[in-house]
Amino acid sequence: MTNSSVTGGTTASTATIRCGVIGVGRMGRHHARICTQVEGADLIGVVDASEARRNDMVEQYGCGGFATVDALIAAGVDACVIATPTVTHRAVVEQLLRAGVHCLVEKPLAPDEVEAAAMADAAARCSAVLQVGHVVRFDPVMVAIRDIPALTPRFVEIDRVSPMTFRSVDVGVVLDMMIHDLDLLIMLMGSEPEEIHANAVSVLGDAEDVCNARLVFPAGKDGIRCTANVTASRLALKTERKIRIISEDTYVSADFGERRGTVVRKAVNAEQLADIRARFKGGEDLSSLNYLELVKVDALEVGKGEPLKLQLESFLTSIRTGGKPFVDAQAGFAAVRTAQRIVECARRAGARMV
Ligand SMILES: NC(=O)c1ccc[n+]([C@@H]2O[C@H](COP(=O)([O-])OP(=O)(O)OC[C@H]3O[C@@H](n4cnc5c(N)ncnc54)[C@H](O)[C@@H]3O)[C@@H](O)[C@H]2O)c1
Repeated sequence: MTNSSVTGGTTASTATIRCGVIGVGRMGRHHARICTQVEGADLIGVVDASEARRNDMVEQYGCGGFATVDALIAAGVDACVIATPTVTHRAVVEQLLRAGVHCLVEKPLAPDEVEAAAMADAAARCSAVLQVGHVVRFDPVMVAIRDIPALTPRFVEIDRVSPMTFRSVDVGVVLDMMIHDLDLLIMLMGSEPEEIHANAVSVLGDAEDVCNARLVFPAGKDGIRCTANVTASRLALKTERKIRIISEDTYVSADFGERRGTVVRKAVNAEQLADIRARFKGGEDLSSLNYLELVKVDALEVGKGEPLKLQLESFLTSIRTGGKPFVDAQAGFAAVRTAQRIVECARRAGARMV
């Protein structure tokens, strides 16, 4: 790679990683800012088809502004964040990987599973890192949920709804919004769903604007299957990002927007539960009891940090150590494939989409 300090997919742990951002629209401008804020990253330049947008970044950050990816590669970059429209991801990423540049590509990895598979293959053939921007994994709320020991979900409910923003309407709500939750579910369950039921409504364009899917995941070691009920809408009258996980031993409820959540643990409430069971058995009328006063509810310990920043730091660590990225191309592919299965399922159920 031209002027690169990267060799064989790894970079000395102390070396500054020279970064670029391709596409500085709604998301890319945040990535450019983050590249100037994360220790060990140096924003070399941005690429955008729009001269006004790249000049805006040049003025703000004093970086280079380039009209083509080739020009940025020639300027010397080790790693790039790709935040161009999804239909362009494959061409841009493959060009960068061929040049040995590590890539963090926005979600969804690709508009369909064929392109996503081709990108995963391209990543497997080269030594550069390809990470997919499923940033919700780095949300402190999700980090807190991931940290809950032995969480074996039986039933999950996720709602991700917001009013229409009139952006990203080139893809449906499943690829645009629900994909975040599909990645979370596949990560939590360790596999893609084996059964899908879905329905969708398309109001403003050709693609679906509202979708509900019921996903059944393969049985775990205990032989029990988990069911997830996921809803995404871009036609809601409010913004809501909520998750509820019911597992054998723990109930978790969290609000990503409010950055808080609650946890109810069976073990912590063992005494109260044993007492209630005994009184039930004895035929006692417990209707005057207040359940909320009986159970001990803990707050989910949510840390701090900007998800995009934590995501870039994780990407840079993979580059430095040569380790597998936390969200690799296979994960990006699995989310796209599941999204596509949901849309096909909704179509079979009679939803009118192109
Ligand atoms: N992680 C998230 O929460 C999140 C949120 C929104 C969007 N996204 C994703 O980010 C990506 C970009 O979405 P957006 O809303 O920022 O789009 P956008 O339209 O606001 O920005 C895209 C930018 O890319 C530029 N561009 C287009 N084609 C290009 C090319 N070939 N080379 C260089 N520049 C090019 C455009 O001029 C524009 O400035 C999409 O994949 C989208 O799904 C992710």
